[in-house]
Amino acid sequence: MINFDSFHKDLLDSPIEEWEGKLATLINDALNNRQHGKREEWLDLLQSLPQISASTIDLNRDCLQIGLAEDCSEEERETLNTLLKQLMPWRKGPYNLFGIHIDTEWRSDWKWQRLQAHLSPLKNRYVLDVGCGNGYHMWRMRADGAKCVIGVDPSQFFLTQFQLFKRYIGEEQPVHLLPLKGEELPPFTRRGFDTVFSMGVLYHRRSPIDHLAELKRYLRQGGELVLETLVVDGDEQTALIPRDRYAKMRNVWFLPSTDMLILWLERLGFINIRVVDVTLTTIEEQRLTPWMQYESLSDFLDPNDHSLTCEGYPAPKRAIIICNTKE
Ligand SMILES: C[S@@+](CC[C@H](N)C(=O)[O-])C[C@H]1O[C@@H](n2cnc3c(N)ncnc32)[C@H](O)[C@@H]1O
Repeated sequence: MINFDSFHKDLLDSPIEEWEGKLATLINDALNNRQHGKREEWLDLLQSLPQISASTIDLNRDCLQIGLAEDCSEEERETLNTLLKQLMPWRKGPYNLFGIHIDTEWRSDWKWQRLQAHLSPLKNRYVLDVGCGNGYHMWRMRADGAKCVIGVDPSQFFLTQFQLFKRYIGEEQPVHLLPLKGEELPPFTRRGFDTVFSMGVLYHRRSPIDHLAELKRYLRQGGELVLETLVVDGDEQTALIPRDRYAKMRNVWFLPSTDMLILWLERLGFINIRVVDVTLTTIEEQRLTPWMQYESLSDFLDPNDHSLTCEGYPAPKRAIIICNTKE
């Protein structure tokens, strides 16, 4: 059983305490109704993690460091290595756990480097990360001083990967992953989060404008939205809607231009809208590693022309947009 008691405790006397009493049933329903065939196996795996305490934890670096090789015996590290391998594929990271370097498919630290300098300081803020994956960026947010970080992601597989790290980083850490979809969260009527991140989610939503409107309802007045998503070149009336797959992904709906994104955000009443980064994804940032061995970006691009996906669309380009709600 994954225990959410400390999450409920962290809601008390906080700007997000309106959620108290509203989420327990949602979480239980999500865990029971969206049962994954491997759920029991993943819970057993968490139970069988070796008891090792980390002498050093450094989350303020590109490869998150949890413990040192000398904190555990060879046998314990071998057990840990086997369990980590059972939780492949490792997509977001990198992590180093007791000397085991988990070289993930994505250099998620590169995305963090692109946006970190543009954020309002996270110190003491309540932060929501919608579509947080296994939580790599949540630990970076906490290391930057966030008082409490809540991530939501419907994948119970990513929840298992997150819980594994939380076990060693510290169960008391105010960093929580809820196995929910962003749109399932109750809106706030009074206060809300200081900063809301949505990274790599908008293009998976059939109604991207509804997604942005939801994010606004989770923010306090004067709060900050950090949006990262796939974009295409073009004016404010340009968006790509793939006929079927995009870069072999089945569930991609809208790839707007940055100007169209700005227009959507303006129509919703966001202010101080600024595009802080636009970057083409490279095969160095997203690639196969021993921890992710299926297919990666180089398999999703046209082999003769890396400016196109294998379906003939413009290759993945990602933008980061930051904006605020009104005071
Ligand atoms: C491309 S990954 C991005 C992960 C991470 N935010 C990052 O930027 O590296 C998209 C994530 O969104 C999650 N996701 C998909 N639909 C979602 C929804 N409706 N609400 C919240 N998360 C969702 C997926 O499970 C996946 O972990």
